[in-house]
Amino acid sequence: MACCHADFAALEGSDRGFTLGMPTFTFGPGVLAEAGDNAAELGLSRVALFTDRRLAAGEHVAKVKASLAAAKVDCAVYDDVAIEPTDRSFQDAARFAKEAKADGFVSVGGGSVMDTCKAANLYATQPAEFMTYVNAPIGAGQRVPGPVKPHIACPTTSGTGSETTGIAIFTLTSMNAKTGIISRRLIPTVALVDPDVTRTLPAHVVAATGFDCMSHALESMTARLYPRRLNPAQGIRRPVSQGANPFSDALATQALQGVGRFLVRAVNDASDTEARTEMMYAAMLAGIAFNAAGCHLPHGLSYAVSGLIKDWHVQGYPDDKSLLPHGMSVVLNNPSVWRATAPTHPERHLRCAEALGASTRGATPEDAGEVLAGRVIEMMRATDIPNGIGALGFGEAQLDALAKGAEPQYRVMKNAPIDVDHEVLTKLFRAALRYW
Ligand SMILES: [Fe+2]
Repeated sequence: MACCHADFAALEGSDRGFTLGMPTFTFGPGVLAEAGDNAAELGLSRVALFTDRRLAAGEHVAKVKASLAAAKVDCAVYDDVAIEPTDRSFQDAARFAKEAKADGFVSVGGGSVMDTCKAANLYATQPAEFMTYVNAPIGAGQRVPGPVKPHIACPTTSGTGSETTGIAIFTLTSMNAKTGIISRRLIPTVALVDPDVTRTLPAHVVAATGFDCMSHALESMTARLYPRRLNPAQGIRRPVSQGANPFSDALATQALQGVGRFLVRAVNDASDTEARTEMMYAAMLAGIAFNAAGCHLPHGLSYAVSGLIKDWHVQGYPDDKSLLPHGMSVVLNNPSVWRATAPTHPERHLRCAEALGASTRGATPEDAGEVLAGRVIEMMRATDIPNGIGALGFGEAQLDALAKGAEPQYRVMKNAPIDVDHEVLTKLFRAALRYW
């Protein structure tokens, strides 16, 4: 395809098409109250509602439950979702989903809740041994053979974009490795994106999820372009994450403009409704973009960091275990990655930097990595993000373990514009130890 941008000119043997999947979106303050009408419109009479213990007694779940009741939709609540889910917590949720005898699903929560709901719906509707649908080579990577039940996703944070994607991420306990299940069948049917939920979010949660959103958009823009994808499968076998394409570019660019203007404001002032609303919108756009384009190195590297972290706690996150927020582990690797990938496509990296609000006047292609990395670092410093993975306790002695820890993520990292091996991973982690 060359109609939108010369970047996407077809190559010999390359895929000439791209496929876009997304839910029916409703965005706006108060739209959680539309859950019941949406469920009734989908013909649902009994739903399984997934949330976590902290949210279960809160106003957002109450609003959704009241809306379902008003629409005469019966509701069975599962509030045992694990923050940072595992194969075990997915399977517990799937057991509940089977026993609930629901004809549809509702999720109210962050990425962990929505991902768990997708997995529970999948295994309750298309039963199989657990590893059947898990990404190869860790799992069998089999295609989901048929439709799952309708799912109404209601995000309560502004960043993961899980309401837009066919991706469910979890930690495989036996390997202590993050992996996932990816299928267009898992994309929620309806997403109710209500920026009112961000009013009460703690600053650290807005920061971590906001940088996750930023990274989704940056990785979408800098992913291997879809005609250059290493897996050229076409038609219904075309991967969900198919490489950068004109559609994901448009949404990712708009998301980056929102993040550049509003992330720092949204973190530093909980009363800044405009900034928090715009971040909710940016997260949705970036989610649609990365679902179509795919993530790559910042996410691949982050899983090694979160897998090896020993003791880390951030205000606003559950304190019953050490937990490094996903978005924070992602952003800590960002500047290092952009310095390494910019030479592959300087113009795209400069476009990202400009969308984020950096001055690119007079910048040459050789400056692209530094300009983008510099803008990300500026935003990290303005929101109290730690100074690289060194601030988490990692040093030269852990680089080999980090690089080995990232190796199960080669599937994600194949989407990167540079080739990756152990040596490259080690260099990327070394460059992420400290930024200022
Ligand atoms: Fe993410």
